[in-house]
Amino acid sequence: MRIGVIGTGRIGTIHANTLSRHREVGSLILTDADPARAQGLAQRLGETAAPGVDEIFRWGVDAVVITTATAAHAELIGRAARSGLPVFCEKPIALDLPGTLAALAEVETAGTVLQMGFQRRFDAGYAGAREAVRSGRLGRLHTVRAMTSDQSPPPPEWLPLSGGLFRDTLIHDFDVLRWVTGREVVDVYATGSDSGPAMFREAGDVDTGAALLTLDDGTLATATATRLNGAGYDVRMELAGERDTVVVGLDDRTPVASTEPTGPPPADKPWAGFLERFGPAYEAELCAFVDLLHGQRPNPCDGREALQALRIAEACEVSRRERRPVRLTEIQDRAQPSYG
Ligand SMILES: NC(=O)c1ccc[n+]([C@@H]2O[C@H](COP(=O)([O-])OP(=O)(O)OC[C@H]3O[C@@H](n4cnc5c(N)ncnc54)[C@H](O)[C@@H]3O)[C@@H](O)[C@H]2O)c1
Repeated sequence: MRIGVIGTGRIGTIHANTLSRHREVGSLILTDADPARAQGLAQRLGETAAPGVDEIFRWGVDAVVITTATAAHAELIGRAARSGLPVFCEKPIALDLPGTLAALAEVETAGTVLQMGFQRRFDAGYAGAREAVRSGRLGRLHTVRAMTSDQSPPPPEWLPLSGGLFRDTLIHDFDVLRWVTGREVVDVYATGSDSGPAMFREAGDVDTGAALLTLDDGTLATATATRLNGAGYDVRMELAGERDTVVVGLDDRTPVASTEPTGPPPADKPWAGFLERFGPAYEAELCAFVDLLHGQRPNPCDGREALQALRIAEACEVSRRERRPVRLTEIQDRAQPSYG
């Protein structure tokens, strides 16, 4: 099996590494808008670099992995679908609903496979939380607290392309909230703060955000994120029910310090970032894609799942901007991009 990898930046490098080592993947063709980057990686992995995206399609591949900057995802998904090729694509499909729906329509018309890269579905902690909900161990779930805290802000030039904190970062919490609880979000109230570095204000974004979400069985959830968490990279989810409480992301590397005299000692090597924290999950989702290509498993995260997560992020952006609660039904058919 030959797989084309389009985009060889941070995430593309991780995924190409996994695929190159996979015994059921024969070879890779790598390409990037910066050809030297693709060539360098191809050389390190002993794979082939192509000068551009056209060659990926012309030379012939069995599947495509899309790890470019987000702006190129939807068009490449459509192109692969029209070529009858299965796709693994990093999140999100697009930064707006029209782009997302157009790409999904291409995939559904072609009847091809699209697996989306929401890797938290492959993290042992989140899988354990899902099992705790499903098994009834927690009893009736009443509260979920989700959080994603990046240690340091991204480069200023990247911010305007990201879609903002809710679409870029909290979208992971929204996807995994649906996956862990098995419930849908019915309404949100979100707010954000841009009182940190000026680059967030200048990009129309926030450095810290919070959302209160109501699920369709009445469970209440909060999701918070920040780009400025000095202590380290901190991703957690706490689920509390009438019988028990579990927490994802609490281990000896969680970047928190207890102020209790009898509390645990502070982490001596706190998580620094997502590549390290979710390394095994990134690998597992690509192995799942190879299994999916062999017809050995169902799609673990299709395009419709990604659409739902984006709708929640869109609702949060509307809520934050208009300072009011937003029902998800309001977002269903929204035709225009709402960021800005
Ligand atoms: N799942 C996750 O946890 C996670 C984490 C980080 C990033 N991402 C997603 O992965 C994608 C890439 O992020 P990254 O952090 O690797 O970014 P990056 O900037 O490190 O890499 C992106 C690469 O894509 C290339 N590129 C851009 N447009 C292209 C095009 N049209 N054709 C070919 N190459 C193109 C760039 O030259 C660059 O090398 C983004 O969509 C992002 O949302 C997901």
